[in-house]
Amino acid sequence: MDFALAHIPYDQLAKLEVKMDDFLSALQMIEPSAMREVFVEVPNVGWEDVGGLAEIKARLVEAVEWPLQYPDLFTQAGIRPPKGILLSGPPGCGKTLLAKAIASETNVNFISIKGPELLSKYVGESEKAVRDIFRKARQAAPCIIFFDEIDALVPSRSAGTSDSHTSERVLSQFLTELDGAEELRGVLVLGATNRLDMLDPAIIRPGRFDEIVEIPLPDEAGRAEVFRVQLRNKPVDGEVIVQELAARTDGYSGADITALCHQAALRAIRRAVHAGEEPAGNSIKVSIEATDLEAALQTMSR
Ligand SMILES: Nc1ncnc2c1ncn2[C@@H]1O[C@H](COP(=O)(O)OP(=O)(O)O)[C@@H](O)[C@H]1O
Ligand SMILES: [Mg+2]
Repeated sequence: MDFALAHIPYDQLAKLEVKMDDFLSALQMIEPSAMREVFVEVPNVGWEDVGGLAEIKARLVEAVEWPLQYPDLFTQAGIRPPKGILLSGPPGCGKTLLAKAIASETNVNFISIKGPELLSKYVGESEKAVRDIFRKARQAAPCIIFFDEIDALVPSRSAGTSDSHTSERVLSQFLTELDGAEELRGVLVLGATNRLDMLDPAIIRPGRFDEIVEIPLPDEAGRAEVFRVQLRNKPVDGEVIVQELAARTDGYSGADITALCHQAALRAIRRAVHAGEEPAGNSIKVSIEATDLEAALQTMSR
């Protein structure tokens, strides 16, 4: 076919056929996007998206923002800022959310890595991936590297995981990078785990993850805050009493409360659609009412 032609005759086009060979040659040119490079971003989650946890927010600002903003004060005081901070607590309590919020609020670069993903994506060369991530972070400094579900990446050596060879190589690469002769200047390593007990103890020695921040299940006041955040941009009927909902959701995590609000919103949509189908009803408006939240609460606590 002559590609220089402005117009390709129809009978030629009709004869076009994609063969196996074409796929094979294309395969050589395309690289899986995940391998191309480590992805640097600034997430769009702010403090206002995290309900409660005021003390923890303040602590993260100290650990992340201050060293970048007032490095001289740290030098004067003769200490170095923390290298690594580990967020630990039950699932759904906002660890991932907090990590994103701190990155976007301080406006630093953010490299987010999921422990299990790294292991499966870079089979056989996970330790090289770890090295690349740290190299990339140094280039992108000031930068936060966030290792989510880090227990999968550096499990305890005694835990007897299936592929202990890989995990040992990854662990030692990880420690090398953290201890690195090359100062990790402007790079903060954040980790998050639901299973602190599964982590290799070498990881949480001072100078590596200097600090472990416990993120507990929210108390009643905390739950009210999460309800406020989750209902903030929703069409809520004035009568919904957040305080009462918080009192009745003992043991719920932030993620549970989010799911509850989602369920309630779905119910409201269903009602609006049905109302719109009736001959009389023509204006479809969604409004989440106390009864929707009540029903969602009933379903979830069953
Ligand atoms: N404190 C919170 N404030 C607002 N939303 C929250 C909070 N905690 C959890 N959530 C909601 O639950 C979801 C899951 O939380 P996540 O940060 O992934 O939990 P974790 O990483 O601790 O398992 C979040 O995306 C958010 O919608
Ligand atoms: Mg998480």
